[in-house]
Amino acid sequence: MRIAPFAGLGGPDDVTVQDVDDPDPEPAEAVVSVRACSLNRHDLWILEGESAMVDTEKLPFLSGLDVAGVVESVGERVDAVSPGDRVVLFPNETCGRCRYCREGPENLCEEFSLYHGGFAEKAAVPADRLVHLPDGVGMTSAAALPTAYVTAWRMLRRARVTAGDLVFVPGATGGVGVASVQLVDVLGARSIGTSTSAEKLERIEELGADHTIRSADPDVLEAELREIGETDAVLNHLGGEYTDLGLRTLRRGGRMVVCGRTAGATSEIDVPAMFLNHLQLIGSTMGTQGDLERLVGLVADGTLEPVIGGEYALEETGRAFADMQDRERVGKLVVQPN
Ligand SMILES: NC(=O)c1ccc[n+]([C@@H]2O[C@H](COP(=O)([O-])OP(=O)(O)OC[C@H]3O[C@@H](n4cnc5c(N)ncnc54)[C@H](OP(=O)(O)O)[C@@H]3O)[C@@H](O)[C@H]2O)c1
Ligand SMILES: [Zn+2]
Repeated sequence: MRIAPFAGLGGPDDVTVQDVDDPDPEPAEAVVSVRACSLNRHDLWILEGESAMVDTEKLPFLSGLDVAGVVESVGERVDAVSPGDRVVLFPNETCGRCRYCREGPENLCEEFSLYHGGFAEKAAVPADRLVHLPDGVGMTSAAALPTAYVTAWRMLRRARVTAGDLVFVPGATGGVGVASVQLVDVLGARSIGTSTSAEKLERIEELGADHTIRSADPDVLEAELREIGETDAVLNHLGGEYTDLGLRTLRRGGRMVVCGRTAGATSEIDVPAMFLNHLQLIGSTMGTQGDLERLVGLVADGTLEPVIGGEYALEETGRAFADMQDRERVGKLVVQPN
């Protein structure tokens, strides 16, 4: 089979295509014929050498978390899925033994990790992490869901967003950003999305954003946010100066959930403003397999249609990463190996 691993840790030119032996399933695994695997910024951090998880000793490294496809074969202990089943993988890897695995939610696991290996024609995956896809859910849509949409969904739940709330989504045009705008809409809440691109903002207005602001300047953003009104919640995947900006513009008792650091891994916070305004700052990573099942259900009944910004053959995986770097696409970028 062909795979598209990273041969170096520099950038898109380091993505190669190689021939390797087909995988055989371990006793608890299924081998999936991969029809779609979406990109996440997590993969790009690895490719750019900015992830502590992968160093040059681990090269070539095969990334790709969000696999959708058809089960080809199963190991001897697998009975939950069978060859021919249409499935999507939930990439959480958890120990099943720690107090967080026992008490839940599973994404708090002390040994939390993620599956990597989807940029390939076939992937050997833990069978109990596969979610069945109803006929109405396409492979490309399914591959968009596990990381970006589950993370956004869980953030909305952590922020206790309900109908009518006003939710600020800085950086609303990528994977987590678009998912946030769409899911805010599903909950009957209202969103404010930002981008540096007017063209991309038009697209997210079509997708249900109630207000959009084109700027990356915190002062401009703050002034425009104040005009729109106090926010009930912020879904912050950018970090950096967006954290303080989001906290400054929250209503008293408002909640900010943070899951990322695209604009900076450190943020300065006004501590008195935090306690005097009763603000809540909540960290969040991924979600649960139950969250993914819920989202697959929302796609199946037509409530949610994941947004796909680009589709690529396996040989074009490097180009997909270049497109993520260029920031011209809206939504999820998806590699289709078969
Ligand atoms: N903790 C978790 O479980 C989890 C899960 C998923 C993602 N994440 C994190 O969430 C973040 C988003 O991931 P993603 O896959 O959605 O990425 P993505 O698709 O590349 O996100 C693109 C968005 O980020 C904005 N952006 C890109 N570079 C920026 C910069 N330097 N300053 C400000 N905005 C910038 C873009 O704004 P423009 O419209 O202006 O181009 C666009 O709206 C990443 O930090 C990722 O690691 C965390
Ligand atoms: Zn655990």
